[in-house]
Amino acid sequence: MIDIIKEIENLDWSKEPKGLYEPIAYTLASGGKRLRPTLALIAAEVIMNEGLLNGDAIEHTVPAALALEIFHNFTLLHDDVMDRAAVRRGRPTVHVKWNDNTAILSGDQMLIEAYKQLAQVPADKLPQVLRWFNEMATGICEGQQYDVDFEHQRQVSIEDYMMMIEKKTSVLIANALRTGGYIAGANPAQQEALYQYGLHIGLAFQIQDDILDVYGDPKTFGKAIGGDICCNKKTILLLTALEQADDQTKAELQQWLDVSDRDAEKIATVTELYNRLGVRERVEEVMEQHTALALAQLDKLPQNAACEKLRTLAERLVTRKS
Ligand code: IPE
Ligand code: IPE
Ligand code: MG
Ligand code: MG
Ligand code: MG
Repeated sequence: MIDIIKEIENLDWSKEPKGLYEPIAYTLASGGKRLRPTLALIAAEVIMNEGLLNGDAIEHTVPAALALEIFHNFTLLHDDVMDRAAVRRGRPTVHVKWNDNTAILSGDQMLIEAYKQLAQVPADKLPQVLRWFNEMATGICEGQQYDVDFEHQRQVSIEDYMMMIEKKTSVLIANALRTGGYIAGANPAQQEALYQYGLHIGLAFQIQDDILDVYGDPKTFGKAIGGDICCNKKTILLLTALEQADDQTKAELQQWLDVSDRDAEKIATVTELYNRLGVRERVEEVMEQHTALALAQLDKLPQNAACEKLRTLAERLVTRKS
């Protein structure tokens, strides 16, 4: 079995100028769950175990898996500038340890490095993989733009939110699965099942991320708690709270959206309002629904040990603490 963590460690960033490459090494060495490349490899395993292709299929998936992880890390460098986030994976973010310009340019270079990996996908598979990768990348930019637009928008519906997180988070996860499966020889129906499974676990994943941003333990979560509340992110927690609140509580919540200089008090009060409104429980139900929809897609795939891994993974993602 491929050790994707080793593959990432083996990438060489000892190049000049150091100001460009050291932040890349720093980011890729800081761990993280490696969810996307892992999913790409498991998807390949699901298909390969069917005997559709020879044993090389997994190796053929490695460049795409690396491309997806490097791309994901690139989005985090820029996302942390956009969200003014100071901590990630328990360490200072690149824009804090260095500066904004570094996060922008090293991020840009990581995007290029991702495409260099992608160029190593087997030639017969590359055109489709590249088309999907580009569609995914555009989706993420669109999602990120909605995410920041919504910070300043008063009226955001839960439907708007689901559209936004599908773009900023789900399409990358879904594409990792579809790409891994495709390189291993998945037929169109299997590609679609992998993609739909990924979309739904992606939605559940982002909802859990929003929950952890309020209720997580910074030691295990690796990010500062309350960042979304400070930025007025239209998370599903905030939108559900606004939906559930009576007029007085709603007005109170709306007032806090105008506060930008009392972070600790804002986090404590808004969290207390969430608790009072039972927001977390409601939001967890939505997450469970998407996990169930994801699991249903797995019935369309070969029922082997790798598929079982996808089943376990979907269930584990919603109880994750990091
Ligand atoms: C963070 O992704 C960005 C989101 C989509 C919430 P992960 O939670 O997968 O980050 P790492 O790679 O494990 O640190
Ligand atoms: C993640 O959204 C989306 C992308 C990075 C594209 P968040 O802004 O919620 O991710 P974290 O919480 O900073 O990891
Ligand atoms: Mg962020
Ligand atoms: Mg963000
Ligand atoms: Mg988040």
